[in-house]
Amino acid sequence: MIVLGVESSCDETGIALYDGKRGLLAHAIHSQIDTHKIWGGVVPELASRDHIRWFLPLLTEVLSQASLHKKDIDAVAYTFGPGLIGALLTGACFAKSFAYGLGIPSFAVHHLEGHILACMLDNPKLSFPFLALLVSGGHSEFIWAESLGNYKILGSTLDDAVGEAFDKTAKLMGIPYPGGAELACLADSVQSTPYRFPRPMLDRPGLDLSFSGLKTHAVNVWQKSSKTESDKQHIAHAFQEAVVETLIQKATRALDQTGGIQLVVAGGVGANQTLRKRFQNVMSERNGEVFFPRHEFCTDNGAMIAYAGFLHLDNGKKDVDHAVYVKPRLPIDY
Ligand code: KG4
Ligand code: ZN
Repeated sequence: MIVLGVESSCDETGIALYDGKRGLLAHAIHSQIDTHKIWGGVVPELASRDHIRWFLPLLTEVLSQASLHKKDIDAVAYTFGPGLIGALLTGACFAKSFAYGLGIPSFAVHHLEGHILACMLDNPKLSFPFLALLVSGGHSEFIWAESLGNYKILGSTLDDAVGEAFDKTAKLMGIPYPGGAELACLADSVQSTPYRFPRPMLDRPGLDLSFSGLKTHAVNVWQKSSKTESDKQHIAHAFQEAVVETLIQKATRALDQTGGIQLVVAGGVGANQTLRKRFQNVMSERNGEVFFPRHEFCTDNGAMIAYAGFLHLDNGKKDVDHAVYVKPRLPIDY
C-alpha cells in the first residue's frame, strides 16, 4: 500500500510517499521561515496561504522522486491536529479532496503520534511499548506508548514548551527568528560557563515540566551582563545545560516509574546535539536504548504522517466520511 502523507499543522508544508513494502519512497518539505521572519513569529493567516501554494508543487516533486503517478497512490494520510486551525484546514481539505477525486481512503493522523513514530522509520529495532519524550515548539511531554494509537500522558509542561523556551530566550537575546537552533549552536561553541541556572521542577515529585521561569532567568542574566558575544555564548550554554539536565533527570524518573528500557526522544528539540549525546550516555549506563528520528524528521515533515497513516490504514482504520474535521487542541490520549 502506497500512502501519501500531508503535513500542514504549523509553518512547514510536508508531503511524502510511504510504501508498506519498500518503506519511505520520497519526501519534500517547504519551510516558511522566510515568510514569517520579518514578523518575528508565525503569522497564522500567512501560514495557511503559503501551505496552499506548496501542496501541488511538493506533490509533483515527490511523485517524480519516486517515479510514480498519482494513480499509484492507495490512500492519503493528513494531520488533523493539534496545530493552527487555518493551516490544518488547508492540509485536511487538500488531502480529503485528493482522496475523494481518486476514490481512495483517507486517514486523519494525530500530529504528535506522527512525531513519535518518526523514530520507527529508521529504527527497525524500536517496538511498542516504550517511553517517549516529545520536545517540540508547541509541546513538551512524557508519553507512555503502549501500542499503536494507545498513548498515556505521564507529565507535560505547565507553561512554555522546550522549543518555545529556546526560541523566546533567543529572541530576547537578539538572535533572529527562529532562534532555537542558533541558541543551541552558541551553547555548543563554549565548553563551560561561569553561570549555573536553576533546574526547574526537579525538587517536585512527578513528571511535569516548566520552562518559562528558566527563560526569564536567562533573559535577566543577559540584561545585567555586558552583552558581549562571550556573554551570549555562556548564557546560552547555561540555559541549554539546565534544559538538558532537567529533561534527563525527569526522563530517568519516568523510566524508573514505568520500567521502560526504550526511550524515544522526538520533536524539533530532539535535533539538539548535546541532548542527543547526554541521553545516549545515560541510556547506555542503564542498559537501555534511546532512539531519535533522523535529523530532518525531528521537525515537522510529511514522512512521519505518511508512515503513521500507513500503520493505521494497514490496521483497517480510515476516515468515516468525506467531511473535513480538524482539531487545533488535541491531546495525544484523546
Ligand atoms: O517539532 P517542531 O517542528 O515544532 C512543533 O511541531 O511544535 O520543532 C520546532 C522547535 C522550535 O522551537 C525550534 O527552536 C526547536 O524545535 N529546535 C531546537 C533545535 N532545532 C530545532 N531546539 C534546540 N536545539 C536545536 N538544535
Ligand atoms: Zn510538530
